Amino acid sequence: MRRDMEKIIFALPGNEALAEKLCNLTGIEQGQLELRQFPDGESLVKLLSSVENKSALLICSLTQPDTRSLPLYFLGRLCKDLGAREVVLVAPYLGYMRQDIRFHPGEAVTASYFAEFISGFVDRLITVDPHLHRNKELSDIYSVPGMNIQAAPAVASWIKTNIRQPLILGPDIESKQWVSEVALDAEAPYEVLQKSRLGDRQVEIVLPDLNAYAGRTPVLVDDIISTGTTMKTAFGLLEFLGFKKPVCIGVHAVFSEDAYASLKNSYVGNIVTTNTIAHESNQIDVAPLIAVHI
Ligand code: R5P
Repeated sequence: MRRDMEKIIFALPGNEALAEKLCNLTGIEQGQLELRQFPDGESLVKLLSSVENKSALLICSLTQPDTRSLPLYFLGRLCKDLGAREVVLVAPYLGYMRQDIRFHPGEAVTASYFAEFISGFVDRLITVDPHLHRNKELSDIYSVPGMNIQAAPAVASWIKTNIRQPLILGPDIESKQWVSEVALDAEAPYEVLQKSRLGDRQVEIVLPDLNAYAGRTPVLVDDIISTGTTMKTAFGLLEFLGFKKPVCIGVHAVFSEDAYASLKNSYVGNIVTTNTIAHESNQIDVAPLIAVHI
């Protein structure tokens, strides 16, 4: 039944470029909506296109999730109110995935709480490389069907086209899942570093023996670049070992505060991200990977 349902795509603020690409790639109608803040900060959400009997696809990368989630919730509820048959959240970046256990007594396990919140108003979820670590599947915390699209083929293709003799490096054990896929597709060797996080902006990294890879260009691949601390710490070690300036690839260009500027000033050749979050560093297009699943 789902295959025959008419579809309509709505872009939440900041997601317009990706939504337009998805409409062009799939031929799905681009829906119009009005979303603005009243002077007191509350949201006005108004649909300008009909959703009746349609599958409404809401494109909303959940970086800065605290400010984006409530308008998203209102839009999801409104679509259902006005007759949408289903509401599908396409969140190329899914926030609140890292606080997946209670690291310290008294802390909220926000990955689970956020998943409950989202599952409460969407029928399906489509995302790209969610930060699955202690939770192995989206279904461990999301009660609605979730699709996890891997950016690895697009990342590997960029590396193959742009880097001669790469050495793919994952900064921590969690990164092995995507780094190994990228390396396989890019036909390049890979190694995984050992990272311990000491605080929001402090990590310790231990490199494996990289002697066999002298002369190669290190390509660090991580799912999220947030403060940039992980990447910068790894760059420092690679510089010390005499490697060429590394290429830094992040699937999700979160870049909190001054992270991007600070990363650009470090020992790095090129900073490259996918367009799961719109950013000037986007060089890898994941729209074709998403388009085949919507
Ligand atoms: C964490 O485990 C993730 O995979 C990233 O390594 C982390 O989010 C990067 O954060 P930051 O840029 O703040 O070091």
